[in-house]
Amino acid sequence: MKRRAVLGVGAAGLVAAGLGWSILTPKATGRLLRSRAPLPPKFQARLAIPPVLQGEEIVQREADLHILPGLTTRAWTYNGSFPGPTVVSRSGRPTAVTHRNQLPEPVVVHLHGGHTPAKSDGYPIDLIMPEGQTHHDMAGHDMAAMTGDVSNGSRTYNYPMLQRAATLWYHDHRMGFTGPNVYRGLAGFHLVRDDEEDALPLPRGERELPLMITDRAFEADGSFRYPAGDKAYMSGVLGDVVLVNGLPWPVHEVDPARYRLRVLNASNARRYRLRLDPQPPGGDAFVQIGSDGGLLERPVRHDTLQIAPAERFDVVVDFGRYKPGTRVKLVDRDGGDVMRFDVTGGERGDDSAVPDRLSAAATTLPEPVRTRSFKFSEARDGTWRINDLEYRPGRALARPKLGEVERWRFVTDFHHPVHLHLNHFRVVSRNAQEPGPYDGGWKDTVDLRAAEALEIAVRFTDYTGTFMLHCHNLEHEDMAMMGDFTVEQ
Ligand code: C2O
Ligand code: CU
Repeated sequence: MKRRAVLGVGAAGLVAAGLGWSILTPKATGRLLRSRAPLPPKFQARLAIPPVLQGEEIVQREADLHILPGLTTRAWTYNGSFPGPTVVSRSGRPTAVTHRNQLPEPVVVHLHGGHTPAKSDGYPIDLIMPEGQTHHDMAGHDMAAMTGDVSNGSRTYNYPMLQRAATLWYHDHRMGFTGPNVYRGLAGFHLVRDDEEDALPLPRGERELPLMITDRAFEADGSFRYPAGDKAYMSGVLGDVVLVNGLPWPVHEVDPARYRLRVLNASNARRYRLRLDPQPPGGDAFVQIGSDGGLLERPVRHDTLQIAPAERFDVVVDFGRYKPGTRVKLVDRDGGDVMRFDVTGGERGDDSAVPDRLSAAATTLPEPVRTRSFKFSEARDGTWRINDLEYRPGRALARPKLGEVERWRFVTDFHHPVHLHLNHFRVVSRNAQEPGPYDGGWKDTVDLRAAEALEIAVRFTDYTGTFMLHCHNLEHEDMAMMGDFTVEQ
């Protein structure tokens, strides 16, 4: 059995030795793909907040979106919008979401950061076939069909939500097609709330903004441009238009008050180093209150936010530190624009605060019972490997025991955002030093830079079964940088 991923490289089969892919693949975190459509003007679109899901059903279907002026973009969507509707859950209260597939291709849904039983975790071959098709219809299909627990037309995912308040997100996870499927629009927020967080005086309501940052390139007709079949992009696809909540370089009017920004980097391959321009007087623009897995114990102040694909940073920005009328840009490392906040002269008060103590969640885990090592590296053919193995469903790279704490050591040749399903973890060291400024709290994705070694501690809890460990550069993931781990009783 083999598969052929959308970039046109059978992970098992392609023999590239001597063809020089590595010459085509720059040692960057991706390769820029330019739009053929004229770039849209900046700071014209108004920031849109995704709708909250009503009911328990999401229909995956094509929709024509208005992203660029005068053009439409045919997207793959959850309920017709990009980002999809925001699912809101309560900690401890199970959530069920039924996905119906009206798209032309099979899909898989993963709740990223969800503490979810294997059956509902979105294993990459547990396909939801398009309505009216069965997987037998895939015979003769371009992709050699490899299937697991297949559903016809729809599937209900059950999320027990035995987890803390956190900013999660859901996205497609089909084996070999996650990059193109997410790029086409299959991503949305899933927020978990709980009593501990509700009791804090954090900004809320209109002053709590989920911000999904993605980069895209567009064809002349407005459709998303993705380099299917082009091996030059195996290091990752970078677009030349930055979208926040699905619109290019948007602008949002804010009161001179504190705002909670739930920043998610949902880009396929692009990393951002975000800062505010101008910086507020005195610096420390971002007061980080949470990371992937929920609230930090105590706030952490940053001038810049370094955010790799799939990471979330929950931050409070006090626009009351700026004079009304100031236009505050959120920019990337090189000054590239992301969005703009226009501070109004609003008279409305601000009774929010960021307490010095945010959460009582345990900060340490018991001493690990064993250490495992995972090497993330490039193969000769330009595809990607963990421990020199390409992804193969059913081959477990590790078999941890339920309830045990393990130390996992990641080493790399290149820049990879490493993601674990099932449980959040703590970063315990980076290059044998203390964890870095962005490693705090409970994480599910950690940014591993070229030639780095990183150690995490993780406890496998509640659910046995098979889960994933993979790179969240989606082109690397599709190009086989993924592995199963099976939690055993
Ligand atoms: Cu966000 Cu396994 O993925
Ligand atoms: Cu990678």
